[in-house]
Amino acid sequence: MADHPAPSVYETDALIAEDIDAYLDTHQHKTMLRFITCGSVDDGKSTLIGRLLYDSKMIFEDQLDALSADSKRVGTQGQEIDFALLVDGLAAEREQGITIDVAYRFFTTEKRKFIVADCPGHEQYTRNMVTGASTADLAVILVDARKGVLVQTRRHSYLCQLIGIRNVVLAVNKMDLVDYDQQVFDSIVADYAAFARSIGIESFTAIPISGFKGDNITPKADGAPSANTPWYRGPSLVEHLESVEVLSQIEADKPFRLPVQWVNRPNLDFRGFAGLIAGGSVKPGAAVRVLPGGRTSTVARVVTMDGDLDEAVAGQSVTLTLADEVDCSRGSVIAAADAPPEVADQFEATIVWLADDDLSVGRGYWLKLGTQTVSATVQQPKYRVDVNTMDQLAAKTLGLNDIGVAEVFADKPLVFEPYDKSRTLGGFILVDKITNATVAAGMLKFSLRRSQNVHWQATDIGREHHASLKNQQPRVLWFTGLSGSGKSTIANEVEKRLALMNRHTFLLDGDNVRHGLNKDLGFTEADRIENIRRVGEVAKLMTDAGLIVLTAFISPFRAERAMVREMLADHEFVEIFVDTPLEVAEARDVKGLYRKARSGALKNFTGIDSPYEPPEAPEITVNTVAMTAEEAAEHIVRHILPLK
Ligand code: ADX
Repeated sequence: MADHPAPSVYETDALIAEDIDAYLDTHQHKTMLRFITCGSVDDGKSTLIGRLLYDSKMIFEDQLDALSADSKRVGTQGQEIDFALLVDGLAAEREQGITIDVAYRFFTTEKRKFIVADCPGHEQYTRNMVTGASTADLAVILVDARKGVLVQTRRHSYLCQLIGIRNVVLAVNKMDLVDYDQQVFDSIVADYAAFARSIGIESFTAIPISGFKGDNITPKADGAPSANTPWYRGPSLVEHLESVEVLSQIEADKPFRLPVQWVNRPNLDFRGFAGLIAGGSVKPGAAVRVLPGGRTSTVARVVTMDGDLDEAVAGQSVTLTLADEVDCSRGSVIAAADAPPEVADQFEATIVWLADDDLSVGRGYWLKLGTQTVSATVQQPKYRVDVNTMDQLAAKTLGLNDIGVAEVFADKPLVFEPYDKSRTLGGFILVDKITNATVAAGMLKFSLRRSQNVHWQATDIGREHHASLKNQQPRVLWFTGLSGSGKSTIANEVEKRLALMNRHTFLLDGDNVRHGLNKDLGFTEADRIENIRRVGEVAKLMTDAGLIVLTAFISPFRAERAMVREMLADHEFVEIFVDTPLEVAEARDVKGLYRKARSGALKNFTGIDSPYEPPEAPEITVNTVAMTAEEAAEHIVRHILPLK
């Protein structure tokens, strides 16, 4: 390391003073390394980050003044500056002694720019850590030299490995407190090496440091290690951070991939596909394949704001024009013709659950993968992982901070690559359709073969044909409401009226369907979701057959009713809220079930100990307190008329 030049703040200052343009230019062309620091409470993470910021002189003078004043007042480090104060910004956090939420900080050296995400170490903050790690090139795993490899160290390392961080630094901190003892360092490194191998971390760099005293953080002028660790031959932390390959450099050597963000069509003569190159490089003349369609073409131009390019590589935003008219829109992926990514709609995936509400098995979530968005369901997890022991445990669902492996079914094919090949085309998030909150982060492992072997069979007699033979527009009249609200009674009245009008109908009733098709289902949340999913599929098939379908199911959850609505054509789904207050339904208690539920003999009963989510904007509401079943039926028929 002897020939390594020291990053000197004085040189930088001189350059700024002399030639601001030259300074900005070198700055602009520096590569950017994103890294995260993982550690537990008290192992000196904040001090280390403070030190990095301080040594690269990214703290402004007034902040420094405040800091030394603060340090003297709080006095945890005597007269020396307490760098932890710089990072543990919030007073509340300072009192708790832990850092919550991910904080991003920027600093720079002569060679590189850095963004560091500071992730808190507590177990319940897996969520923060995954968020911080998802874009990182490198992870600094901090270990307190006095404590060695802890459960937290293992958990952080496992998460980093899961997120696909290939560069791991084991920073053995607080070496000053163990007298810079080489044996202490060596035995921690040996411990960690054994564990790292077991979870598939192939290599790591171990550095003995003291964030507080500054040992082996930045290189010294003579390139030697800290005088306190003469036995250490490797680089200082900053030298290492300056020299590792960043993600975009690694991605540049892979086959070409451009996930299309938008189609740029300013006039009829220009049709360009804009996006950020996720992998490889591209030149005019390159043979490409546009997925999921699979058509091939040739790149005509590589256009940017600053004119056309002869070549563009991973990490650059470009607009491509193609030689042929091909089907390509947002979500399409333009890829090297001879090495395209896969297309599939069923996967096995690792999922990190980030929401307070548990995963609803079978419920439709938005799955966003790069620029693609589809609706997807997660099946019951095969297992979840205990992040402290790496044991695989049985699981019915996933809760906050759980990590599990499950099958994911999308409603449309996705262009993807396994996550360990491409973070961009293998990493996804799940979004709750009602609240729009991100509920999970996921990593696609592989596609399920069965989905590759099942194709859609085109038939000659289509849904229009069926409908026109019956001379009617297919509909689904979806009745929802509490048990005993009157859904079945009113649906029955409606069907009778439609039959008199020569309409071809079919009534799917909850209790009846649960005797046959759905007799394997009970009343847990997951079973109700599956109940409605199947009924939705059957109702859809019946509309394909040209029928007017009436369904009478409690269907207590908005998400599943919305899912069925989406499965059908516009205006085909008519949501009918049978609005009967709980007291009224309970007073009627036609089947005696409310009494059983109140006595505790019947569990998970809707309205008692299982929720009912009323529709927010139903097409029709019938109030059964004010109307008889016949009046309600009349009201509904009048609303859906004129049916052709
Ligand atoms: S749903 O919630 O999955 O849509 P569905 O409409 O199929 O329910 O079935 C509801 C009917 O099952 C009720 O009308 C009632 O007769 C019966 N039932 C039995 N147990 C329950 C329960 N725990 N909660 C609600 N309904 C129940």
